[in-house]
Amino acid sequence: MLNKCITEVVGGFWGDEGKGRVASFEASDARLVLRTTGGNNAGHTVYHNGVKLPLHLVPGGIVYPQVTAIICNGVVVDPKVLVQEIEMLKEHIQITPSNFILSDRAHIIMPYHIKIDEIQESIRGNQAIGTTKRGIGPTYEDQRKRIGIRAQDLLLGEGALKEKLKIVSDFLQNSNFLLSVNYSVNFLYDYCMYAKEHLQQFIRNPDTLIFSTLKEGGKIVIEGAQADHLDILNGDYPNCTSSECNPSGALSGAGIGPTYVDKVIVTAKAYCSRVGNGPFPTELTDNVGDLIREYGHEYGTTTGRPRRCGWLDLIALNPLRGYTDMCLNHVDTIGKIGMKLGYIKVCVGYNYQNEKILYFPSDTEVTKKVPTPIYKTFEGGWEIPENCVTFDDLPENAKYFISFIEDFTGIKVSYIGIGPNNEDTIIR
Ligand code: IMO
Ligand code: MG
Repeated sequence: MLNKCITEVVGGFWGDEGKGRVASFEASDARLVLRTTGGNNAGHTVYHNGVKLPLHLVPGGIVYPQVTAIICNGVVVDPKVLVQEIEMLKEHIQITPSNFILSDRAHIIMPYHIKIDEIQESIRGNQAIGTTKRGIGPTYEDQRKRIGIRAQDLLLGEGALKEKLKIVSDFLQNSNFLLSVNYSVNFLYDYCMYAKEHLQQFIRNPDTLIFSTLKEGGKIVIEGAQADHLDILNGDYPNCTSSECNPSGALSGAGIGPTYVDKVIVTAKAYCSRVGNGPFPTELTDNVGDLIREYGHEYGTTTGRPRRCGWLDLIALNPLRGYTDMCLNHVDTIGKIGMKLGYIKVCVGYNYQNEKILYFPSDTEVTKKVPTPIYKTFEGGWEIPENCVTFDDLPENAKYFISFIEDFTGIKVSYIGIGPNNEDTIIR
């Protein structure tokens, strides 16, 4: 019998739904917490003893003493960012090879990846994706081309590593004629040596530890990154990221099969936001959008960009993914917006190509059309009362709003975010 002891936390929309918070809640009784996709394009904020820890790579669950945090095979790692993050974390908690592992198969973001990201974005001009310019896409490109540098390569002897880097350098010279900088083998070698010096102690194969934990029925949390619409295969191509950040991809990034999964928690906000370009049917470019951005503090934690904001879109939440639970954040924020405007809207269908549809169309890139939302309107808003700890303590309007979402999606709202601090969460 396989133990079902994995809880996945993933984003249901375009990212920034608050995965860090719910993942760290789930991690409080976990043994392992895994990051399995993406890289430092993610921005996850966790709190430890009241201190805000902005994280981009290390899973937030590391703050618990019983947790081992693992950056798994599917992640792409910028060594400098990881080293900085470890240094920052060390001011608050211990980070040692016994509570932090960097998988030997994680790919390394190299300096040319960041440069290529920038160049490719500028070539696209007004069709730019709006990437985070962290070199994520080009690193995954090289992974697929099978010329990536993996964490285990950092541990090779000088001769063997330089042999690999020579191939990379030749590839760059022959295929990336736009690169103005010449990436010499020695330059790349020095970069790898910096990464090795700081990260060597953490690099190993985590598979045995993951398997023994599964075998013993120990809880494992997967802290997903990015979100469903940013998935390279199933998202809003090409306005997406370069990893498979859906629940199956998040498992694959750790090499784990689906039979171990207990729960898949999808995170959502009570409204929607998106950074970067791409279809966003409920986007509000008027003062209501500005209001959501101000009340919800919707500015990127990774790039500082103001986020595009709009009403919650229940059609954009894809039921194929098999979510078992939902964490609905910013229920306080949408309540305040309702108080101010006298109403709140939620998208429950689209008009698209002269048809009413109940799914997110996959051809918006071809039609150059964005579906027009059909809304359900909720009268008024609410204010979260003091000492609100259970669902029953919520104002009637908020209860109705949440119950409607549950009925419409068939997903239980197990976490309700009602304020900025960790404590401001109702757990059902
Ligand atoms: P978290 O985990 C929001 C978006 C970028 C861009 C597109 C491609 O914090 O929710 P990339 O640099 O990945 O090639 O950019 O994907 N994007 C995110 N948006 N939150 C994220 O992660 C994101 N990760 C990538 O803005 O539109
Ligand atoms: Mg983000």
